[in-house]
Amino acid sequence: MYIVIEGQDGTGKSTQAELLKKYYEDQGKEVVMLEEPDGDLPQAHDLHDMILTRGYNFEPLSNVLLFTVARIELWKKIAEPVLKRNGIVISARNYWSTLAYQGYGEGVSRSKIIRLTKELLPEKYFNPDYGFILTVSDAVRLARQKNRGKATETFERKADEFQQKVNSAYPKIAKEFGLTIVDASGTIEEIFDLILAKL
Ligand code: TYD
Repeated sequence: MYIVIEGQDGTGKSTQAELLKKYYEDQGKEVVMLEEPDGDLPQAHDLHDMILTRGYNFEPLSNVLLFTVARIELWKKIAEPVLKRNGIVISARNYWSTLAYQGYGEGVSRSKIIRLTKELLPEKYFNPDYGFILTVSDAVRLARQKNRGKATETFERKADEFQQKVNSAYPKIAKEFGLTIVDASGTIEEIFDLILAKL
């Protein structure tokens, strides 16, 4: 089973992915968690840092390619082997983030992103068994980010106008790809219950 949890920075994707991982592990299942562009691979850590923390200010199209490299490495080396063994892959983010951030946010053509990704990744990557989008109001998201004290990464640092473009992209992406929208403004436990109810 392949489950994707999407949403803007500060919506709590990773927390929910961790909880879900533990939930299935407690049932004796093999579970692996990805946090695109990161995961348990040194090249993914390096790509994550290169894109997000070094201040290179990559061209939008270069960002698309760099996220895609991380995606291929994580999918081939971590996700596929687990899926072949009937395990569970839980991913915070997938190429829908590229559509939201590089497409709607940075202006790369949507069809280019979809074409490139379809060319390079297998069918299963596009068809998770479950796809969730966590949504919160701008006020809640900003308050959470402030608490995390983590507005140091490339896309988190961008101006409000960019954040709003990304925010408003997610409902459109949810509609287009049939993803389940989860109201993520409650407590961690409340959000987890909403997710579990859909699984
Ligand atoms: P990170 O701190 O790794 O995780 P989180 O998802 O918890 O914020 O941040 C990843 C950043 O990369 C985030 O700002 C969204 C951005 N991103 C893209 O712009 N495009 C993509 O394709 C992906 C996967 C992420």
